Amino acid sequence: MPLYLTPEEQAMLGGDFGKATQTAMQILTTLGRIYGAEKLLPVASVQIAGVSYDNLGEAGLEWLAEMANGGGKARVLATLNPAGMDIDAWANLGIAPEFAEKQRRVIEAFARMGIIATCTCTPYLAGNLPHFGEHLAWAESSAVCYANAVIGARSNREGGPSALAAAITGRTPAYGLHLDEARKPTVTVRIEAARGGGTSYFGALGKAIGAVLERLGRHSIPLIDGVEAASLEELKAFCASLATYGGAALFHMPGITPEASQFDPPATVIAVSAAEVDAALAAMNDAPAESVDFVSLGCPHLSIAEIARIADLLAGRKVSKEFWITTSRPVKHVADRMGYTAVIEASGAKFAVDTCCVVAPIQGRFHALATDSAKACYYAAAKHGLKTRLLPFDEVVREAIGK
Ligand code: F3S
Repeated sequence: MPLYLTPEEQAMLGGDFGKATQTAMQILTTLGRIYGAEKLLPVASVQIAGVSYDNLGEAGLEWLAEMANGGGKARVLATLNPAGMDIDAWANLGIAPEFAEKQRRVIEAFARMGIIATCTCTPYLAGNLPHFGEHLAWAESSAVCYANAVIGARSNREGGPSALAAAITGRTPAYGLHLDEARKPTVTVRIEAARGGGTSYFGALGKAIGAVLERLGRHSIPLIDGVEAASLEELKAFCASLATYGGAALFHMPGITPEASQFDPPATVIAVSAAEVDAALAAMNDAPAESVDFVSLGCPHLSIAEIARIADLLAGRKVSKEFWITTSRPVKHVADRMGYTAVIEASGAKFAVDTCCVVAPIQGRFHALATDSAKACYYAAAKHGLKTRLLPFDEVVREAIGK
């Protein structure tokens, strides 16, 4: 089936809208043909990953500058994934000035293209909140999973270039999770562990289910039975973990996610036991307690409710370790207004806005990380060579205090 293009899309491809739009349309039509798309779909919003200069490097920066010089302009709401530093307070986090200058040029190139420089992996908490059924071109794996599963919007997991191309054209190829057929669950995963709670528990659950998906093949879509309730924060932790350990971009959870009731549970049933969740938890706890020299909360970026809790726990106390609180700029503004920032900073903890402990260039600075995030454990080990301790949210704060 050939890829159908509207007259406007053909004009974009022909160069009538400028060089950057032509390049963007070339990227999308190539992808569309590879994946057998019959047409392009209009997207409601875009979220672009590959923002940290640590990941992009000089070649990535040059390509972005070329797209901006070529007249690329976002046609739809488009926001950014975390960058390699706090755009304002980078020196406070020990970022080198040379890196800061490169990162500033990356953000400037995106901003010239009309991409909103809100650097966050929880865009749905910071002004980029899709509706049920909307088509998106999002790139950050945890956010894609959240948008598909929890909101019921539709996005494939885009790469940096294809997400930018979608922003510039307002289109994405109609394949994969944009189509009804691809959203059906393929396996029932029955949770036999006792109900646990909190972000670290949901992270361990995501790792245990991710191991099942790894065995079955990464295109499996689980219908997860046995979770009675989950908060926004637990679901964002779960999405991040399931995407990291199982490559999942969609799951269904009866009673919790909006599309689950459309489907009968698949006949193939795989149980996940309490022992498997415990083993997942244990695997992310390889750092001796006394070795922790870096503490971080906010993977994915914190909600205002989580920041309020941190302020509560830190009030009148001092931290004894480097402690990063990572969130988006809009959520930080609310924290400022509420007085949470003052309380948290008085303790010696640091806000790391626009960035996170994974994408910031922290190689060689620390030995062991304490966090509530299963995703952060994976990347802290893989990218920065850190040992990790996965703890419940409140215990992470106590770890920073040293009690
Ligand atoms: Fe977000 Fe960084 Fe974690 S981008 S999901 S805080 S690894």
